[in-house]
Amino acid sequence: MALRSLKSIRNLNGKVVFVRVDYNVPIKKKRVLDDTRIRATLPTIQFLIKKKAKIILLTHIGRPNGKIVTSLNVDPLIERLSVLIKKKVKKLDTKNWKLSKKKKLEIITEIKEMYSGQIAMMENLRFSPDEANNTGTLAKELAEIADVFVQDGFAVLHRESASVVGIPKYVSSCAGLLVLKEIKGLNRVLHHPKSPFVCILGGVKMETKIPLLKQMVVHADQILIGGGIVNTYLKATGYGIGSSIFDKGKEHIALTYGRKKKVILPVDVIVGTKDGKHYRRVRLAKKPHVICKKGEAIFDIGPETLRLYALYITQAKTLVWNGAMGYFEQKPYDIATLTIARLLAARSKGSAYGVIGGGETIQAMDLTGMTDDVDLVSTGGGAMLSYLAAEKLPGIIALEK
Ligand code: 3PG
Repeated sequence: MALRSLKSIRNLNGKVVFVRVDYNVPIKKKRVLDDTRIRATLPTIQFLIKKKAKIILLTHIGRPNGKIVTSLNVDPLIERLSVLIKKKVKKLDTKNWKLSKKKKLEIITEIKEMYSGQIAMMENLRFSPDEANNTGTLAKELAEIADVFVQDGFAVLHRESASVVGIPKYVSSCAGLLVLKEIKGLNRVLHHPKSPFVCILGGVKMETKIPLLKQMVVHADQILIGGGIVNTYLKATGYGIGSSIFDKGKEHIALTYGRKKKVILPVDVIVGTKDGKHYRRVRLAKKPHVICKKGEAIFDIGPETLRLYALYITQAKTLVWNGAMGYFEQKPYDIATLTIARLLAARSKGSAYGVIGGGETIQAMDLTGMTDDVDLVSTGGGAMLSYLAAEKLPGIIALEK
């Protein structure tokens, strides 16, 4: 079902438009470290400025669990957005979200006094205990203040939060330009992928990748595996992986998928010390053996594996990548991840349709300076994985209704 688009909403002049964004970005010492998610929402905000709406942004940051955590307030986001949009962004201070009648009236008055095209941001939604699981009356109370609700937080569509599934029940709602763009790109991969379709999966949390793995085993031509998933498979098969990170309790699943024909596993790995001062390559024999000596762990896939993976990537017409191949934050364990990133970006926008998503994947791509060469950089980690696993996201269901 096609979602109602922001562009189809008429007469937004002077209207109070609530926009749910996902500005859950890394922040250190009150500074935004990565503003990808903020920049991704600029088209929607600029559209609303042009239409002279009063724009009220809603977001969560981190997991404060219904409590005020000062380090997670929206001030750094306001500062960063103001720079990016070249406009002062106002703060509507909802503090702990206990919206008494008086507090609500104050907010309504402040919004009334805003000029058309002005932007304001409310406090971190997760300071309210009602946001995470859509409890209480938060969604209804927010909807009462809004004329229109725009969902532009693609990365949070897999959550049953008040601002995701609740607000659309009570007020005229539509999808923002980022949400529409991401859905269009992911649908291309999900429903009309050009063959060969190669999926690259890495990262540490194997559990979050299982639904996608299930889907890809059916739809992709090859799945190239790296990161913690490899370690879990090797451990399950009986190799000695020393202190390497693996997903405890997921060994049987790793074995099931590792044995599938479409799943391509490394033929060699790089082991060493965490600081990268000592490292060596280990070829993986068919028969399980000890890979790591005392004090060593697996930190990357090896050069022969990289050559093998490169063959698949350079033939592919559809490419999806989520999760690092190794501990890329530490040299020399960044080699495979950055090579995969460069290969994918080089094939994108022409030879293949390339999609990447997830915090560390984008971070790695940024290190290559080639992020703009990729067809779709999804702002969603969990949301992208769920969407590509053909799960119906609660945030989309809410908009369809
Ligand atoms: C994300 O970063 O994936 C989204 O912002 C959702 O955050 P959450 O996993 O804390 O719900």
